[in-house]
Amino acid sequence: MSLLEVRKLNVAYGRLQVLWDINISLSTNNVVGIIGPNGAGKTTLLKTIAGTIKPLSGEINYMGQKINGLPAHERVKQGIVYVPDSSGVFGKMSVYDNLILGAYLRRDQLNETLKFVYELFPTLHERRNQRADTLSGGEKQMLVIARALMVKPKVLLLDEPSTGLSPIAVKNLFTSLEKLLSTTDLSIILVEQDVGRALKISKYVYLMEGGHVRDEGPSNEFSKVEKLRKFYVGA
Ligand SMILES: Nc1ncnc2c1ncn2[C@@H]1O[C@H](COP(=O)(O)OP(=O)(O)O)[C@@H](O)[C@H]1O
Ligand SMILES: [Mg+2]
Repeated sequence: MSLLEVRKLNVAYGRLQVLWDINISLSTNNVVGIIGPNGAGKTTLLKTIAGTIKPLSGEINYMGQKINGLPAHERVKQGIVYVPDSSGVFGKMSVYDNLILGAYLRRDQLNETLKFVYELFPTLHERRNQRADTLSGGEKQMLVIARALMVKPKVLLLDEPSTGLSPIAVKNLFTSLEKLLSTTDLSIILVEQDVGRALKISKYVYLMEGGHVRDEGPSNEFSKVEKLRKFYVGA
């Protein structure tokens, strides 16, 4: 059974409709990839699932319940957490304070959770007293993910985590995500520009364009599809 299901979702900004009849499904301890060009509606989709954007119509079901009416902070409490890009760190605060702030909705077992994220991202432990704006791009990205993990989520909505990172930072980030997936029952919807990485870590992938899901399928088959290459290379 699906942990999270999006059914016939339509979303508009004012009178401009940007998502059309989107169907997405995510099962437990799974990664679903969402790829597609800028302006496709990927961020809008994640934010609608997170509850910060209200849809025109459609259903969002989570653990068998329709959650359309739940405000964003309630969805966070229930385990659905949107992870922005690395500009989402609180620059003037220390790494540690960023993490503690991340846990404001979930203060039980704070020390255990902190220990867990420090083990996953040892660099953050080393730099825990450093101001967040002095971190590298890769470290900031780790911090926004670590901060999201402080509420012990069941579903992470990751919005282009590799954007702006060096190749080594991207590699480290995906190694940490693999470790996270193998040591928890977390599920991830991953919006990613790095199509190769997205296909490698996900089991299923959706290709979005112009507010529609244009194609979808198991990631290992998808990577062979010529039209995908064409789509990106523009050949
Ligand atoms: N706050 C907003 N107000 C009006 N239009 C928006 C807003 N945010 C995004 N859009 C428009 O919605 C469409 C989808 O944007 P977005 O979800 O950010 O796509 P992606 O993340 O795939 O690049 C784009 O045409 C974009 O210009
Ligand atoms: Mg986006």
